[in-house]
Amino acid sequence: MKRFLLMLVVLETLATGCVGTESKEPPIVGIRNMYEQPRYDTQEKKPFFADQRSMRPKVEGTVSREMEPTFTWATGRTADEAYVMEVPARLIAARGGSRAFVERGRDRYNIYCSPCHSYSGNGKGMVSRRADQLGAAGLVAPTFHDDRLRHVPDGQIYASITNGVRNMPGYAHNIPVDDRWAIVLYVRALQLSQAPQAAATATTETEQAQ
Ligand code: HEC
Repeated sequence: MKRFLLMLVVLETLATGCVGTESKEPPIVGIRNMYEQPRYDTQEKKPFFADQRSMRPKVEGTVSREMEPTFTWATGRTADEAYVMEVPARLIAARGGSRAFVERGRDRYNIYCSPCHSYSGNGKGMVSRRADQLGAAGLVAPTFHDDRLRHVPDGQIYASITNGVRNMPGYAHNIPVDDRWAIVLYVRALQLSQAPQAAATATTETEQAQ
């Protein structure tokens, strides 16, 4: 019996060949349903849907979380190349309102930006301090609390995060679009926190708007 079984194994091996041997025959597969999965290939034509397309068009009105939603959101610029003045309101609303969004921004800022720009945004993060000690002035991050950066459009800060700026690397690959805007909103909050005068005006404006 044992000999018979052994012969069977040998015969089978001879008949099927070994893994790695080339053959024009269809492979012998133990578990077929692993091999032939009930799925459609990209671009495959299938009669299941009326239009026979296996790739379904987007459901109207939906926005994929991964997709960069609009040109403006993705680039920080309008179609005529001008920087967007403010973080898109629709984005803030979609992410649970300004409070939730700015808190998300704080979280991301503290992770990604504070090592150089510091928690308060004064540009004295650990990396900057080290660069300063070593005399590498070009690698010291600037403070956000100067007149120029207080007045640049939101889209410009967004673009700096996305593409980098001079000696600062870009973060397009590390930080998703929504989070970059959240960080912009938080940078604005930091700026207001260090400029009591501006904060007072902003509060009055918000109160009046309500
Ligand atoms: C590795 C250190 C480093 C990190 C991390 C970093 N920055 Fe910078 N950042 C710099 C340096 C250095 C500059 C100055 C670049 C220059 O002028 O050469 C700069 C400049 C800027 C500017 C000024 C751009 C302008 O218009 O002059 C902004 C705004 C800014 N960073 C925002 C951010 C934000 C937001 C983050 C987090 C997503 C961040 N940075 C992360 C080092 C860093």
